Amino acid sequence: MDRNISGFSKLSKEKKIEWLASNYFENQHLTKETLQRYWNTDAQLQQLHDDFIENTISNFYLPYGVAPNFLINDREYTIPMVLEESSVVAAASLVAKFWRSRGGFRATVLGTVKIGQVHFMYRGDSKTLQTYFEHCKPNLLKATEGLTKNMRKRGGGILDIELRSKTDQLANYFQLHVTFDTKDSMGANFINSCLETIASTFEREDIQVVMSILSNYVPECLVKAEVSCPLTDLVPDSDPETALAYALKFKNAVDIANVEPHRAVTHNKGIMNGIDALVLATGNDFRAIEACAHAYASKDGSYKSLTHCEVKDGHFRFWIELPLALGTVGGLTSLHPLAKFSLQLLQNPSAEALMEIIAVAGLAQNFAALRALTTTGIQKGHMKMHLMNILNQLGANEKQKEKLVTHFKDQPVSHSAVQEMYQKLE
Ligand code: MEV
Repeated sequence: MDRNISGFSKLSKEKKIEWLASNYFENQHLTKETLQRYWNTDAQLQQLHDDFIENTISNFYLPYGVAPNFLINDREYTIPMVLEESSVVAAASLVAKFWRSRGGFRATVLGTVKIGQVHFMYRGDSKTLQTYFEHCKPNLLKATEGLTKNMRKRGGGILDIELRSKTDQLANYFQLHVTFDTKDSMGANFINSCLETIASTFEREDIQVVMSILSNYVPECLVKAEVSCPLTDLVPDSDPETALAYALKFKNAVDIANVEPHRAVTHNKGIMNGIDALVLATGNDFRAIEACAHAYASKDGSYKSLTHCEVKDGHFRFWIELPLALGTVGGLTSLHPLAKFSLQLLQNPSAEALMEIIAVAGLAQNFAALRALTTTGIQKGHMKMHLMNILNQLGANEKQKEKLVTHFKDQPVSHSAVQEMYQKLE
């Protein structure tokens, strides 16, 4: 079957689905029905979603959950989370409660610098290039004035433009390294527009611009979040020796992730469970956040933990430091009704406040994972939360669900055990 098609994007949504159904599916009616079930009945809302991307044929839902009881810098938050993985929201809620009674989370933004680069090739004398750059720099800034006007009014804009030689790594390769403050917007469009203007102003016969693009690696757009408490508060109702032994075991788990990349990737994946869920809920770009976080985790030459732990002088301290380039205005944040709702729920934070909240969500998730891993293991809790997925997969009705949930309250959950009990019910 030849599935080559031209002009697909010009077809109506219905015709696109018809083409898919007849080319890839046996039951064409079911295909259409499956996709249409997820269309929004509010035509205007559906159109909004259709217009986010190209060739939209349906919507792909993810659950939107909330984790209450977060206390961050003495302020109360209920955190919205969008993700498909069971246990994550429950873990966030538990940890929020745990730290709430121990002073809550402290978070601080350490920097907000964003980066963009004009990459170019130049074969001439580097001193001549430097002289040309210095001469040109005021013009580069001037050329962007129209673009930066509004951002400057908000206190942001271009911070600096630097000429950097990269010829030791690649022959003839130079770049204009441009730093930005984009205030409450993530600033991707702003940065890219500025860069393209800078590039075309800078380019001349002996300078070949290869590309102009923001960098998603923003190590100076950095936030730190932490929790701390006396050791005796870490393990309620325990004697000091038990508390110390537990804290040291917990710290070992963090230290292992610092020296063992296989563990570090899973450790950081757990952190990203919390971070991505909030990044998605607030309409931010989770691919950018992911790429940057992992690059930062490798900044010392090997892939390490994004969290750190200290047990000292009878005190437990646990913190995260990571770059987060976020926006609370522009992009999807104001366009997607649920992203807007999330930001309202978070009391309309600035981008800096959102960096703090999201870093806390990552730290909380890591605390929950390490606490479970170093005590009971994660499967007990995880499979309990997963029980409903298994029951849904098996097609259990409400009554059957009720019975099986009661049965598995004090029984180990596994797919086969649930299936067996389910069959016994029928
Ligand atoms: C699962 O999504 C995340 C964990 O594997 C994280 C970790 O191991 O630290 C539980």
